[in-house]
Formats: sequence, C-alpha cells, structure tokens
Amino acid sequence: MTKLFLKPNRIYSIVLSKHKYSTAPKSVATVRIGDKDYPSDEYTNVTPKIISYLGRNLHLQRNNPLSIVRQRIVNYFYSSFTHRGNPTFSVYDNLSPIVTTKQNFDDLLIPADHPSRAKSDCYYVNKDMLLRAHMTAHQSELLKSGLDNFLMIGDVYRRDEIDSTHFPIFHQVDAVRSQRKDELFHDKPDLEIFEPIFDPKNPHGFINSINDPMKQSCHTLEATKLMEMQLKNHLLGLVKVLFGKDIKHRWVDEYFPFTHPSWELEIYYENKWMEILGCGIVRNEILANAGSTNTIAYAFGLGLERLAMALYKIPDIRLMWSTDSGFLSQFENKDINAKITYKPVSVFPQCVNDISFWLPPNYTIDTFVSNDFYDLVRDVGGDIIEQVRLKDKFVHPKSKKHSLCYSIIYRHLERTLTQVEVNEIHKQIEKAVVDNFNVTIR
Ligand code: PHE
Repeated sequence: MTKLFLKPNRIYSIVLSKHKYSTAPKSVATVRIGDKDYPSDEYTNVTPKIISYLGRNLHLQRNNPLSIVRQRIVNYFYSSFTHRGNPTFSVYDNLSPIVTTKQNFDDLLIPADHPSRAKSDCYYVNKDMLLRAHMTAHQSELLKSGLDNFLMIGDVYRRDEIDSTHFPIFHQVDAVRSQRKDELFHDKPDLEIFEPIFDPKNPHGFINSINDPMKQSCHTLEATKLMEMQLKNHLLGLVKVLFGKDIKHRWVDEYFPFTHPSWELEIYYENKWMEILGCGIVRNEILANAGSTNTIAYAFGLGLERLAMALYKIPDIRLMWSTDSGFLSQFENKDINAKITYKPVSVFPQCVNDISFWLPPNYTIDTFVSNDFYDLVRDVGGDIIEQVRLKDKFVHPKSKKHSLCYSIIYRHLERTLTQVEVNEIHKQIEKAVVDNFNVTIR
C-alpha cells in the first residue's frame, strides 16, 4: 500500500535525458522524475515540460477553484453517507501519478489493443509505466487493500489537442461504492445479488458475459437496477448541490471496459450539452480479482476542470494553473459554497503565427502524429500557447510530398505579448520541429 503514496509537493524534474518524439528517434538513457530514475525505451514520450507539472497538486492548493470543488464534492459524500457516525467513504488524494500499465489498463480489463493505450494518447515513462490517464488506475489496488467505499482524487495526464478546454493535465474524482446483499437488500432478504447459476465462491469458474445491455450475466436484474438507481441518485444529488436543483441534465448510455452497464451524465451549460462524468456497475471480474466476492459495486469518474469552469465561469483551462493574485484572490477565504463568478482581470490580445512544413518522404498526413507535434509546440512555447489549429494540408501533385500548415495562437494570460517576442518563440518552435521531425519548413 505505502508504495502508492508520494510525499506531498515533491519536486519533479528530468535530467540526463533528451526527450524524444516518435517521428525522429534519439537515444535516451533514463528519465528522472522526483528523485527516481526510470529506464527509458522506445515508449518514452513524457516531456520535461509535462514532468515539471508533477507535484503541483492544484486540487490541494488553497484558493484554487479545483480545490474548492474537490472540497464540496468530498463534503457531499461525507455528509450523505455515514456508518455509525463515521463517513462511509475514505478519501485518497495524494497517490503517486506514476503508475504501471497493469494499474492503468490490465487490472481494469482494458484490452491490449484498446486505443486508449496508444502512445499518441498517453505519456509513457517507459513501456511498463506511465503518468496515469485516469484516477480509475488506483481502483483495483485500493480494492485489494480491503477498501470498499472510497474516493480517489488527483491529476491525470492525456495527450490531446490544444484549446481553451483541453490541457494535457487535468484532475478527476473517481469513486467506488460496494454493497453486500444485506446492505443492498436489507428490507428484502429474499433478493440476491448474483444469479443462481453463478457461484460467488468460484467466480473464475464462470464466464461473465456483458452481451446483455441491461446487466452482467453474473448479476440479478434487481441488484443491477437498484445499484443503477442509487448511482444515478447519488450523482444527481451531487450535481444539484453544485449547480442548483434546476440544472438540466441527461443520462447517456456509454461503454467502458471496466463497468457494465455504463452511462455518462451531461449537463446543459451555455446552450450545449457538456459531459461531466462517466460511471457504471463495476465488472465483477475486477472485484473478484481483488478478493471481493460477495459485493456489487458502482464506480464513477468526474472531471474537476469542467465543473469548476462551468461553476465559476472560468473561460480558459490554463487559468487553473495561474499563480497570479488577480486570479487566486477571487477564490480566497470564501465560504466554499459561496457563489463566485470569475471576473477576467483583463483580456490581453493574441498573436497568430502560422507554421508550414513538408513532411519527410516516408511520412503522410495520416501517419504524422499530431499529438507529438502539439507536445513539442507546448514544450518550446510553454503556457502562452493558447491553441494550435490545423489550417491546411496539401499533397504536391508531382513530388507527392505531404505538407501541413498549422496556426499557432499565442496569448499570455497576464500581459500583452509583443509580436517581436512571439516571432522569436515561433522561430524556436520551427527549429525544434525541424530537429525532431525531420521536416522542411516551407
Ligand atoms: N475512467 C473513466 C474516464 O476517465 C471514467 C469512469 C470511471 C467511468 C469509473 C466509469 C467508471 O473517462
């Protein structure tokens, strides 16, 4: 158990190694994260820039909106669920973000060829370790340690596009709630969690199918429906506490490898449906592998950034990382339930510079990994990169060479950028793109 925990606010850094991008391999020795060296290999794609964010723990920083939303969610679960005067859920908010592929994928029944494992989507330390892509990565180990009701809160890492609602690091609250037969059906003792053909003492002697959209084959319909009702009521209760009782919402059927059935909750915000969480009934194989053979459980995972942005009307996800007092003071020493509306200190103008390049002869527009490019842009440009947009693609009719053009949108959140300094950074980006991807600037 203890190996899961990191000391708070550890400093992370990368030394010894040059990061590399898949289109232009360079040799790498080890990756240093905190005070530990990890062997690197052809999977290594975590960058120094990303490593520099580890240990910031925004969800635990006083006055950070993410921390305020975290406290409100924890309070909701503490006050709504108690057992003999004690909170039912225990909270884990300081687990190390460096996990094994087993924790992040295998333990959760995520198949070996599942797209979420792709190098283009995750930050790998090496082929066996990565920066967790979701907080569900800790579910199986916490179940194995004997816990049955718990919240897991922390930072997660995903390679993605760059815009005002996407940042490679965001924060999630994940949870598991387990029920034994006597808890779930305390007033109906003749009902069962498991179908008679399933032997809970020998869970591995039964192939648990998920072909029926209503339930897993090992579970009774009554147990599944009752858990679904609790799950939806508990989550809707939370959303109403956060957004008020009139919040417009809808449930959408979903698929996750680790739950069945599964749903997503969307809320109506600023004239659009916005997905805020995924949830479902935990696959019995996960519980059985963890030694929990007499329970049925629900699980969910929700994103703190989306909730905070909607609750406080924060227009850009990068603001969460601001250390500027103009931002943080707006969330300071307030009652955590106070209605706060973020007031932009001022909006500084953006600068847009385009970058166009020919791909090397063996690359096409489809094999070029755009997430590699986005990471490199972010690595060189840092937080002033607001957005990267594909503007144009083109195949030369004669040479058959492929060409891409991206617009890079620069904006500083706290001051006006000059075109001169943007040009300088843009030039550095061009150079890094040439060095790493072997492209030719047009
Ligand atoms: N881990 C899922 C995600 O990050 C969310 C989830 C958690 C879904 C638990 C179901 C159960 O998207």
